[in-house]
Amino acid sequence: MPSGFDAEKIRADFPVLQQLVNGKPLVYLDNGATSQKPQAVIDEIVRYYTTENANVHRGVHTLSQNATEDYENARAKLRGLLNAADDHEIIYTSGTTQSINIVAQSYGRQNIGEGDEIIVSNMEHHSNIVPWQMLCEEKGAVLRVVPIDDAGELLMDEYERMLSPRTKLVSITHVSNALGTILPVEQVIELAHAQGVPVMLDGAQAVPHMAVDVRKLDCDFYVFSGHKLFGPTGTGVLYGKAELLDAMPPVQGGGEMIKSVTFEKTIYNDLPYKFEAGTPNIAGAVGLGAAVDYVQSIGYETFAAHEEELLEYGARALEQIGGVRIIGTSPRKAGILSFVMEDIHPHDIGTILDAEGIAVRTGHHCAQPVMQRFQIPATARASLAMYNTKEDIDALVRGIDRVIEVFS
Ligand code: ALA
Repeated sequence: MPSGFDAEKIRADFPVLQQLVNGKPLVYLDNGATSQKPQAVIDEIVRYYTTENANVHRGVHTLSQNATEDYENARAKLRGLLNAADDHEIIYTSGTTQSINIVAQSYGRQNIGEGDEIIVSNMEHHSNIVPWQMLCEEKGAVLRVVPIDDAGELLMDEYERMLSPRTKLVSITHVSNALGTILPVEQVIELAHAQGVPVMLDGAQAVPHMAVDVRKLDCDFYVFSGHKLFGPTGTGVLYGKAELLDAMPPVQGGGEMIKSVTFEKTIYNDLPYKFEAGTPNIAGAVGLGAAVDYVQSIGYETFAAHEEELLEYGARALEQIGGVRIIGTSPRKAGILSFVMEDIHPHDIGTILDAEGIAVRTGHHCAQPVMQRFQIPATARASLAMYNTKEDIDALVRGIDRVIEVFS
């Protein structure tokens, strides 16, 4: 165990983990779908609604001023988390999906035309495929897909060959939600930038596991969801370099995103408000700010080392079970153990594990093309967070033994 890290102490911060499910202590291994919330986040949301609830940027009264201050403080915390240059480069969204759709509908519509190409990888989540297909359909642009090898790694030679003067954007995942592969994003960005092509990274499965520095990476857009980072559902971030966001048109019209409105002409607001039409998810933002505080109080280095150790421990344990095959075997992985079992459907695995109090996700994980690549319909996926322990992995192994027993 890395020094100074006590997963049991962390677990105590998460009330939902302190329960029996189907008569067994809950073993929560579905963090890739959503992570649990620490008491500090729950308390902050309760405090907000109990003492402060008011609309932001719209009132001179005290509650509105306090709500505005907390809402903007949370934005500053998110800026710090990503090491962005300025708070106004952080746009609040409802999650990764909305963030990607904003880039597709705003940057994409403005800059991508007939015959232009957008590059994604074979291991994208549907939310980083479908918005681009919609744009391609509208504009006559072409979606290019970087293939992957049997370990679930990006074929960099193919990627390099794919980049051309027709490429207008690379939009690629930082960590694969179905396989756990950590992509070589530094190299992806360097190669794209050498051709003047901007890069968006889907950080939904990265930010919960590793420190991200958007300036060091030099990515042009970075997106993630708050609910996978121990924050509330319905929260997310779109980071973009200011010069790109500034030049992009808004995608939703309404209150807050304007400076002035007449029936003849509307002047749009400055960043970040230009992209935040309507009353935002204020309680969500404030709760996400508390989640950032929580994560930083523990420290990425500490819990990332713990998770890496767990991932290795889990992979070794699963490999030893006859009939189990891990899907995604890159040596550079974060948080995800996806597997299949000979002649047993993943949904049956999930159901039997649930009876043992063990929560995993089963299915295609909203990443059907990667399932097709491995010629499987689905996997069972155990996904980790900082509060998981070796005991959780041991319980998973016992659960899989139980699956084998039921099917023998
Ligand atoms: N995208 C989430 C997952 O991978 C929901 O489970």
